[in-house]
Amino acid sequence: MADAAPVDLDDDPVRGLTAALAAQHYIVDRPLATVLHLAGHLELPLLLEGEPGVGKTAVAEALAAVRGARLVRLQCYEGLSAHHALYEWDYARQLLDIRIGEAEGLSGSGVRSRIFSPEFLLRRPLLEAIWPSGDDRHRPVLLLIDEVDRADEEFEALLLEVLSQFQVTIPEIGTIRAERRPTIVLTANRTRALSDALRRRCLYHWIPFPSLEREIEIVRTRLPEASERLVQRGCLLVQRLRGGYYRKAPGVSETIDWLRALTLFGATDLDRARVQDTIGCLLKDSEDVAAFLGRDSEQMYREFGLLPDGRTA
Ligand SMILES: Nc1ncnc2c1ncn2[C@@H]1O[C@H](COP(=O)(O)OP(=O)(O)OP(=O)(O)O)[C@@H](O)[C@H]1O
Ligand SMILES: [Mg+2]
Repeated sequence: MADAAPVDLDDDPVRGLTAALAAQHYIVDRPLATVLHLAGHLELPLLLEGEPGVGKTAVAEALAAVRGARLVRLQCYEGLSAHHALYEWDYARQLLDIRIGEAEGLSGSGVRSRIFSPEFLLRRPLLEAIWPSGDDRHRPVLLLIDEVDRADEEFEALLLEVLSQFQVTIPEIGTIRAERRPTIVLTANRTRALSDALRRRCLYHWIPFPSLEREIEIVRTRLPEASERLVQRGCLLVQRLRGGYYRKAPGVSETIDWLRALTLFGATDLDRARVQDTIGCLLKDSEDVAAFLGRDSEQMYREFGLLPDGRTA
């Protein structure tokens, strides 16, 4: 069998994307970079799931910046309706125009065709992404459908046309298909199960908590002013907490906030009192805080050599 040709890493688009995202201060691992690359080239929506604070929203923002795309964001919530997600008619302007039409002696059908034209349409994020308006018409779009699992199931059904056909149907106007397909990123953290129909239309990736090495890299990128020792030991402590039995494990955003807080206090290493004072940056549940202070902290302090008098062993 002939030897496989060596891979030219400079021709590796996944590596190129990894570097471009790093330039936007977002650190990806190879599996995430690969799926981001594929979603762009296969023109398929990408569903990202993961625990809170692992960087799902931030990766969409960084990707938009890398692509020079306009970020159109739809924040989902319970009760989100087509009016807020797709489009609404501008009733106030339509009413005004009906009066003007009547004064001009226009027939009912004449007025009707005028007021149900695009200029009376208020584009909400999904329509704006498919059919951008104004000066933004020619810019690529990244549509971020954030926390899709917070919206109701009926809303998911409404999304399917956008996700599979990249089109929106407006009864009074017709079907509008995207001239240029937007990149679509959906995020979820399993508030409820998403339908198979939605999953089937997307590429999928689960963002795990980062490894220790990657988390250190992320914090260095986001918090260059923090001391190296503090970052290394702080990230290790957070990783230990994630291995504990807490109701809500700290995400990467918590790690960054915590180390930012310690840096603000002038800390260059961990110490007992500071860890206790700032534990609310990491644990966001009263039972978790009580469990840490009452059960786990002593063992943690021993492991990290944090002496009661504030010194480090
Ligand atoms: N891989 C990463 N590289 C750089 N920064 C990161 C990374 N992951 C997370 N962060 C940082 O953590 C912060 C929180 O991330 P983000 O808000 O995107 O999390 P999320 O997964 O969307 O959380 P939620 O589910 O609560 O919305 C970001 O603002 C960013 O600063
Ligand atoms: Mg988010």
